Amino acid sequence: MPASILPVVPLGTSGPSVGAQGLGCMGFSEFYGPSAPAQARETLWAALDAGVTMFDTADLYGDGENETFLGPFVRAHRERVLLATKFGIVRQPGRRTWSQVRGDRAYIRRCADASLKRLGLDTIDLYYAHRRDPAVPVEETVGAMAELVGEGKVRHLGLCEVTGPELRAAHAVHPITAVQSEWSLFSRDVEASAVPTAAELGVAFVAYSPLGRGLLTGAITDTRELSAGDTRLTMPRFTGDHARTNAALLETVHTIAAQHAATPAQIALAWLHRRSRTHGLTVVPIPGTRRPARLRENAAATAITLSEAELAVLEPLAAKVAGSRYADMSSTATARE
Ligand SMILES: NC(=O)c1ccc[n+]([C@@H]2O[C@H](COP(=O)([O-])OP(=O)(O)OC[C@H]3O[C@@H](n4cnc5c(N)ncnc54)[C@H](OP(=O)(O)O)[C@@H]3O)[C@@H](O)[C@H]2O)c1
Repeated sequence: MPASILPVVPLGTSGPSVGAQGLGCMGFSEFYGPSAPAQARETLWAALDAGVTMFDTADLYGDGENETFLGPFVRAHRERVLLATKFGIVRQPGRRTWSQVRGDRAYIRRCADASLKRLGLDTIDLYYAHRRDPAVPVEETVGAMAELVGEGKVRHLGLCEVTGPELRAAHAVHPITAVQSEWSLFSRDVEASAVPTAAELGVAFVAYSPLGRGLLTGAITDTRELSAGDTRLTMPRFTGDHARTNAALLETVHTIAAQHAATPAQIALAWLHRRSRTHGLTVVPIPGTRRPARLRENAAATAITLSEAELAVLEPLAAKVAGSRYADMSSTATARE
């Protein structure tokens, strides 16, 4: 595949310029099967070569291991990398499941210091609240995050899975640079509230799971082939009849991909890039991959322009998807809208 250099876009009105696509680093540590560190490092290099600048992690991923892994790479390329990490999801000790969401000041301050230490950095470029703590007003959480900006420990603030009204309330306390929520051809709930509010406020949208956690790539033909312990085996869209229904929806994506001599993953990403124009805001998808070849494939999606006729064919897919995004949707924005 020929080398492709990503265009550069502004991360909303308060953020820096970034490569139009980021890299989701979660899979380097867990959730989607085993990862080989050497291949993961090659993927990081391929990302840098392709013009990726935003590298996305969280203290949750690998229980801190993901940040520790990324640290040396980020420090070696500090001027070229925007490091985004997150706090807020408390794990059950020794398990992948969550026990709690926290957004109180003392917890945030502890998490920021711990992330900085693991990363070996003085400053986190973009710091997200991973979920909304229902027990703490969003203004209080963002107030505590803003203190970190004042102290130079954080450059820009972000929020994940917030509703439009929550984003507006947060933005009144301190400028929010980016909202990160699930957005893809298969998951479009954000378009009802968070996206229009972000567009109005000049906040960028970082689209997580832009490939539907792999569903939209066509590479998962039988979910029984996923390795034991893969989190997707517990997700409604990947199970039983839902998996079969969703796989059948991909036919449309395959047809359009063939017209562009492209892959389904590239069409899914091209569709998201086009959302930027449709909704009037910066959209930065952060596809996750552990493989350099797929990184290059995904980067090349920015060169694909979908026609109005193709967009019209893709439009109805999300409404036909079977199964919710998570088994428990209670901490998502959808549950609060
Ligand atoms: N804020 C949040 O709550 C939240 C939640 C979930 C994720 N995230 C962030 O978003 C990032 C991306 O989301 P995600 O990893 O859940 O899902 P995704 O990007 O939609 O899909 C990742 C899956 O697709 C596969 N893949 C990637 N490119 C491919 C290609 N060209 N062809 C075939 N398969 C391909 C990957 O496998 P290989 O690795 O084998 O290529 C992986 O299994 C994460 O890494 C994380 O940083 C944030």
